Amino acid sequence: MKRKIIIDCDPGIDDALAIFMALASKKLEVLGITTVAGNVGIDTVTRNALSLVSIAGFQIPVCRGAAGPFLIKRETGGARIHGENGVGDVLLPQPSFDEDSRSAADFINEMAGKYEGELELVVIGPLTNIAAALGRYPDLSKKIKGLIMMGGAAGFGNVTPAAEFNIYADPHAAAAVFQAGIPIDMYGLDVTNRALITGDEIAALRATGKAIPVICCDMMKTYADFYESVGFSGLALHDPFALACAVDETLVRFKSCHVDIETQGTLTRGKTVVDILGVTGKKPNVRVALELDRERFIQLLSNLLCSYE
Ligand code: RIB
Ligand code: CA
Repeated sequence: MKRKIIIDCDPGIDDALAIFMALASKKLEVLGITTVAGNVGIDTVTRNALSLVSIAGFQIPVCRGAAGPFLIKRETGGARIHGENGVGDVLLPQPSFDEDSRSAADFINEMAGKYEGELELVVIGPLTNIAAALGRYPDLSKKIKGLIMMGGAAGFGNVTPAAEFNIYADPHAAAAVFQAGIPIDMYGLDVTNRALITGDEIAALRATGKAIPVICCDMMKTYADFYESVGFSGLALHDPFALACAVDETLVRFKSCHVDIETQGTLTRGKTVVDILGVTGKKPNVRVALELDRERFIQLLSNLLCSYE
């Protein structure tokens, strides 16, 4: 049985690789894509999603979501890493189809009703759309099987010392989602900062000469500059790693923990407060990924990207 998913994303270079991987996987049925402002603005992420799906040779619903968080101003630093156009300033072809008329929240709710207890949301951007859908449709949380989330960290952050971008960008939405009672598999920086692709592995992808791997390598060039600047020995493939775990959960080891979100802290806004030791006595609500198999991840990434003709 294929896992029925919606990808909620903010493409975004790493989002782009995750979308290509998902569409190529025989274990996933991508019912649609919902977009949210994050790495770049909503118009750009939505156009990028349409172009990426078109390049992959698919036509699935792409539904526009939130242009920013509801309670705070939108973070606009993403272009520094993802380029002004969100995909490493690589010029993508015009989309071959138009965006869907349904909003992200309405599409998520419609699919949750159609596939009650089966639908899983792969959330790899800020959580604004998910919180909006939960707020608009109070019974939605009972219909969604689970969330596969790139976000947060038990350890240090990447936007501030405390917070990871997807949570930091809309901490109020994240708090609502983590408190909604939906099962969450959290792939935070604890594993995604170690889901590195090396220069040699990128060169091997480029050497295939295949269209999709080559486009991914072109997009990763901008990304590489940032990770080099912060001393990483490769590029952290945050969203592709979360997506890879939707295909094969054995890539990680989880620990079930209680996780809540700091929304007020001057220094800690957007921190995922992960109760690793269980000191709060609160019931675990999240499976937190803490260990990974990098080599098998890179193998799966390569197999999926190279499976396109
Ligand atoms: O912190 C990494 C996350 O922030 C990824 O989803 C990346 O695309 C950005 O959205
Ligand atoms: Ca993302």
